[in-house]
Order: sequence, then C-alpha cells, then structure tokens
Amino acid sequence: MSSPILSVESVHVSYGRVEAVRGVSVEVDEGGLIALVGANGAGKSSVLAAVSGLVRPKAGKVLFDGRDVTRWPAHRRVGAGLVLVPEGRQILGTLTVAENLRLGAHRRRRQAAPIEDMFELFPVLAERRNLPASALSGGEQQMLAIARAMIARPRVMLLDEPSMGLAPKMVDEVFTVIEKIRATGVTVVLVEQNARRALRAAEHGYVLDTGEITHSGPAKELLDNPRVVEAYLGAE
Ligand SMILES: Nc1ncnc2c1ncn2[C@@H]1O[C@H](COP(=O)(O)OP(=O)(O)OP(=O)(O)O)[C@@H](O)[C@H]1O
Ligand SMILES: [Mg+2]
Repeated sequence: MSSPILSVESVHVSYGRVEAVRGVSVEVDEGGLIALVGANGAGKSSVLAAVSGLVRPKAGKVLFDGRDVTRWPAHRRVGAGLVLVPEGRQILGTLTVAENLRLGAHRRRRQAAPIEDMFELFPVLAERRNLPASALSGGEQQMLAIARAMIARPRVMLLDEPSMGLAPKMVDEVFTVIEKIRATGVTVVLVEQNARRALRAAEHGYVLDTGEITHSGPAKELLDNPRVVEAYLGAE
C-alpha cells in the first residue's frame, strides 16, 4: 500500500469572522493527481493557502512526506518540494521569460533545476526567452508560471486554476503540460472551476461547497454521479 505524500487533516481556515474552510480533509498518493473542484468562493484557494503556508489554519494539520508541516513557513515548504502555482499566475511582466525562470531558481539555490531543462519541457518558452513576460499570451504566461514552479524541483505541485481565462486551445495545452509534469513523477493537486475537465485528468476528486467537502472518491465515479453532475458539473 502506498502512503499519501500529502494529507490535509480536518483543516479550518478563517479570515476574521469568515469561515472559508471548515474541516477539510484531502490526501494524495505520491505520483498521483487529485482534483479539487467547486464554485466561486467554495474555499479551494484557501485550502491551497493552508497547504502552502500562506495562511495558518485555525485548526487541523498538513502532513507532507510524513512530516507535520502545519507550522512551517511557506519558504521552508518550497524548499522541501511543496510548491504552489498561484491563481492569477503572478508573473513579473517587465522581466523577461528567462529572468522569471531565474527567480524560480533563486528559491531553491543550488538544488534548482537548470533553466535549459524548462526550455526543453516548454519549447514555446524557449522561443520567447528574451521577451518581457507581459508580451506572452495568457496561456504562455500560465506555462511560464508552471515552468517557474518546476525549477524548484517540486515533489508536489499545487495548481490553482491553471486554465482560468484561457482560450479552449490553450486550455488543452495546459492540460497536456499537466500530464507532462506528472510523467516526470511530480504529484499534482489541481484546483479548477473547469470541474469536468479536471476530474477527467484526475484519479481522485473532491467537491468543495462553502468550505466543506460534499463529495469525494474516484474521479470517474464523481463524473458519473447524477447529484454531482446536476449540482456541480451541469450539462456538457
Ligand atoms: N483574504 C481574505 N479575507 C477575507 N475573506 C477571504 C479572503 N480570501 C478568501 N476569502 C473568503 O473566503 C471564502 C473562500 O475563498 P477562496 O478564495 O478560498 O475560494 P475559491 O474556491 O478559491 O474561489 P474562486 O473560485 O473564486 O477562486 C470566500 O467567501 C472568500 O470571500
Ligand atoms: Mg480560488
């Protein structure tokens, strides 16, 4: 039996009086891909914030690679291989593609992957390496955000809405890149509003609704569950 590389145990996240996450438990096996789906404001990003160390959960635990990292600062988690690609990408538009990648390397110092490896994995970035990141399309900027995270040699990559705002063709490319990343052995936690698509890519899925998990299980079963389809996936 494989033990999970990441377990979120009964995590609560509050912002003042807003209880954004109320007792969420999620786990993923090494090399796996799980999808966390749900409507706007369901608490998806807040779960990732607790996992990556951007917020301190009010209660609950985050276990990574057998260690309790709940109280670790974010940079220490990155150093250990738990890396977030945030919603909205957070690319620095005035810097070039190559400079943005070097910033990713800075977070891991000598353990960072060579930038050239990223150009092999993401040929579109190689062609644009000396352009300012602001000159890239939305999809290309998403590739850059993912490449920058890959430089840190993640063991678990947390992807927050990677397909948001992209044209359908670019959405396809982003999902292809996610498959490539998995093929390198990286475990993926995928947060998406594009729920059907995310569940098709995942082995396991979790549906989050107003801070709580309402459904979880093999992604295929969620896709076939009439209640999940009706409430969260809608007509195709
Ligand atoms: N920094 C904050 N301060 C106060 N409330 C917040 C903060 N961040 C999130 N919230 C609230 O917490 C709840 C969950 O937000 P969160 O961003 O985690 O949801 P989400 O599922 O990622 O939504 P979206 O699909 O819009 O990205 C929402 O009600 C949101 O308004
Ligand atoms: Mg969000």
